[in-house]
Amino acid sequence: MKKKVTVVGAGHVGSSLAQMIVQDGSADVALFDIAEGIPQGKALDLSEACPLWGSSSSITGVNDYSGTADSDIIVVTAGLPRKPGMSRDDLLAANAKVVSGVVENASKRSPGAVIIIVTNPMDVMTQLGLKVSGFDPKRVVGMGGILDSARFRTFAAWEMGVSPQDVEALVLGGHGDLMVPMPRFTTVKGVSLTTLLSAERINALIQRTRNGGAEIVSLLKTGSAYYAPAAATYQMVRSILFDEKRMLPCAAFLDGEYGVRGVYTGVPALLGSGGVEKIIELSLTEQEEKDFAGSVEAVRQLAGKLGL
Ligand code: APR
Repeated sequence: MKKKVTVVGAGHVGSSLAQMIVQDGSADVALFDIAEGIPQGKALDLSEACPLWGSSSSITGVNDYSGTADSDIIVVTAGLPRKPGMSRDDLLAANAKVVSGVVENASKRSPGAVIIIVTNPMDVMTQLGLKVSGFDPKRVVGMGGILDSARFRTFAAWEMGVSPQDVEALVLGGHGDLMVPMPRFTTVKGVSLTTLLSAERINALIQRTRNGGAEIVSLLKTGSAYYAPAAATYQMVRSILFDEKRMLPCAAFLDGEYGVRGVYTGVPALLGSGGVEKIIELSLTEQEEKDFAGSVEAVRQLAGKLGL
């Protein structure tokens, strides 16, 4: 029997993710949304593409949480996206209401699942997901670092005229304006960016990465990025489904790691069937430590507004 992934939110991110999962037959999918007809219509459309993709996955659109029962993974993409001029943090109150309802309803029907939170402001929504589900923190994880790192990889590849697949990058901290791109751990086939580009060019890439989500929002005007967010979430889904144990930057619950306790933030984590199976601790320079602490503090303050 195939594993089952529930994707909550059949909007741009959720439906793109659902497509990636069924296109290569990784799992069966339950696509949930409050909007009637939307998940059913998208699921039917995707089902009709399966013979063309040579996929035997099944996908069902549902408005009732009973259809999400016994999932191995629950991905939460439900909620509002940003509009031009908004920061991710501006979504706090509206999306907190959505995420707490979704997690409460979905987690009790799939008590053994790993929950991946995508909805912004993601680090705080993940913390809320932990509280509402009552799950082990290892089984509640947020998507942000892979996306931020992919943006950094893209801009670095363009700058150097190399294939983006040869660029590896690491971005730590919260998935917000104070994220911490790490040029020291960003490499082209193992060669550090710091030896390949001037500090000035690297700073320009860091700024564009920090502004990567807003750059797309300002172009789209009616919503935020979804192809790369879905692709980043898909990497996490696969690593958990197939116990790949990939090392991926994710929002994980820190319990003393990096000198931080009781908050979610982006760190390199080993993702397997148990969720976050290990957090990789890097030794940071004084400046990196300062930037990381600033980013964590911003997450903590935002979480405080929800009493978390
Ligand atoms: N339960 C289930 N679905 C909901 C609920 C709810 N309580 N509230 C809203 N939704 C659904 C909407 O009906 C819509 O289909 O969530 C979907 C959101 O889709 P989009 O508006 O297209 O937003 P999207 O671009 O997918 O972004 C979703 O992911 O990256 C983040 O910042 C982004 O927080 C945003 C989220």
